[in-house]
Amino acid sequence: MEYLVEMCGVSHKFDVMLYDDIAMRLKPTQSLAILGASGSGKSTILNHLSTLLPPQKGQINLAHLHDIYSLSEKQLLHLRQKILGIIFQTHYLFRGFNVMQNLQIAELIAHTQIDMEMLEEFGIAHTLKQQIGELSGGQQQRLSIARVLTKQPKILLADEPTGNLDKDTAMSIMSYLLSYVKKHEAALVLATHDKEIAELCTHIVLLENKTLNQIK
Ligand SMILES: Nc1ncnc2c1ncn2[C@@H]1O[C@H](COP(=O)(O)OP(=O)(O)OP(=O)(O)O)[C@@H](O)[C@H]1O
Ligand SMILES: [Mg+2]
Repeated sequence: MEYLVEMCGVSHKFDVMLYDDIAMRLKPTQSLAILGASGSGKSTILNHLSTLLPPQKGQINLAHLHDIYSLSEKQLLHLRQKILGIIFQTHYLFRGFNVMQNLQIAELIAHTQIDMEMLEEFGIAHTLKQQIGELSGGQQQRLSIARVLTKQPKILLADEPTGNLDKDTAMSIMSYLLSYVKKHEAALVLATHDKEIAELCTHIVLLENKTLNQIK
């Protein structure tokens, strides 16, 4: 079966070497949690995968696109708009717009439709007409995840996606993400400090001593 996410021979350093010759591969329906101490490089790996930061060595293939840092502008745009769903710690909601308008942006970009059932599950279906500033931090977080999923991405990249949420909400958002991954034959790469959240994924790796060790 073809891999959706494939990273090989990746090395990167800023001031110090973060990791040397690391690799990962994910097939459709698989999910991978990256655990590791603060500063070990989890977010940096997600930045490589999300087209934002070329690694100093190595190669990344996503979906049917080989070596993402050598793609044409047109292929790169296609990758960002249709294939990747990036859920990062800081959520970029448009504050001048209401909840509905924020979701419609995703519909426009990806030519998809808002999934009202998902909004019900996320507990934000009643907020559609509210301005972003009127939402709690946790509601904004759930909205930003809902907006990413509205694009129906094939590859989800999530950096502590449930960081601001209470345990119950975090677990329910995680289980929604994982059922999305199964239903859409997508793949999820998740950076987290939370072992309980990591355990929900099909695979777990630990970033330690400049290398990725598979622990599940
Ligand atoms: N753009 C950058 N320029 C220089 N150094 C950077 C840059 N981005 C990250 N670093 C450094 O690289 C290291 C890894 O950072 P990264 O954010 O990937 O860690 P992390 O594992 O995600 O940590 P946390 O668990 O705290 O989120 C840190 O020492 C950080 O200071
Ligand atoms: Mg991080």
